[in-house]
Amino acid sequence: MLNGRRVLLIIGGGIAAYKSLELIRALQKRGASVVPVMTRAASEFVTPLSVSALSGNKVFQDLFDLTDEAEMGHIELSRSADLIIVAPATGDLMAKMALGMASDLATTLLLATDTPVMIAPAMNVRMWEHTGTQRNLKTLRADGIHVCGPDEGDMACGEFGFGRMTEPDAIVDAASDILLNGPLKGKHVIVTSGPTHEPIDPVRYIANRSSGSQGTAIANALAALGARVSFVTGPARADMPLGCDIIHVETAREMLDAVQSALPCDGAVFAAAVADWRMKNSTDSKIKKNASGDIPVLDFTENPDILATVSQLKNDRPNLIVGFAAETDDVIKNATAKRIRKQCDWILANDVSPETGIMGGSENDVTLITANDVIDWPRMSKDAVAKKLAQHIADELG
Ligand code: C5P
Repeated sequence: MLNGRRVLLIIGGGIAAYKSLELIRALQKRGASVVPVMTRAASEFVTPLSVSALSGNKVFQDLFDLTDEAEMGHIELSRSADLIIVAPATGDLMAKMALGMASDLATTLLLATDTPVMIAPAMNVRMWEHTGTQRNLKTLRADGIHVCGPDEGDMACGEFGFGRMTEPDAIVDAASDILLNGPLKGKHVIVTSGPTHEPIDPVRYIANRSSGSQGTAIANALAALGARVSFVTGPARADMPLGCDIIHVETAREMLDAVQSALPCDGAVFAAAVADWRMKNSTDSKIKKNASGDIPVLDFTENPDILATVSQLKNDRPNLIVGFAAETDDVIKNATAKRIRKQCDWILANDVSPETGIMGGSENDVTLITANDVIDWPRMSKDAVAKKLAQHIADELG
């Protein structure tokens, strides 16, 4: 099943475009969601209305659509999926891809993406056999593009031979092979996310501003590379990741218990903003104002440090443990010291001073600190940070 996997489907302008409607259905039947993009020529063969109605999503068509750009820029659109399928991939689209052109929305997305791409070519047999197309095919394969089909058979133009677009179910099988055979296939990764809530009394609690969006993005990115992900989350505002085992907790102690129950694992990413302290004695009944106007004094005790506890396990220590260091000053110095103190393998350090807009925002500006390196990543979306981190994890654990 492809539960939770996101496919960006680029529909090219050929008669086989009608099969893309069936392809949308077949992908959805296996649990994937589909965001459609149509070339101008594609809309001569199928209507954007049918594509939108079947996919349940808006159809993206125009590179210069200001509303689309404001909602989701084309760069983000190109990277928001786990797989891009081009079906039908016409001779013209293949040629533009092979040349690296960006002359419309579809080709611009294909040039901007860092997501795996699969094409399902469809064209007349002579066009398919033409040395130009075969040369482009070779280039695309060498560029790492996956190719599904074409099949041999009768064609809409009355000829017979290779050039028919592969049937939708077979395209979905090929997509599943790519999506489920990622470099983290067979690996189990635990991700913690969100804030924790530490009760003061039955109605009040101590919390922080973490939205959980970076943790969700990391879990999605790891799952997209084929990992089995246990996602242990505090009460977060962000959407839950798709295709992961989700374990909801409230407090730091519950989070530690849930992480320990999810062990063993190959890797762990501790992205949660765990409260450092909890009430020493939280009360079972609501603290009341009293007549003499006494103001309650909150007495704290330290919470367990989940990252440090798991990093210092004798048995069952994951092979790779990644922590975050959200700092407001001396970011690198503090984060480097934190990595050593907690004994994790990598730390992603970031500056969470209010003026950075990172805490609760959609972007992150991180530095990866390992035992040997300090690598500054450019500021990018939390999704892009997640994908980059997941790829590093795959390189390490693969
Ligand atoms: O010490 P500090 O809170 O800055 O450490 C941040 C890192 O440690 C994060 O990866 C966070 O998820 C983890 N952490 C934890 N348990 C705590 C406190 C922090 O796992 N009690």
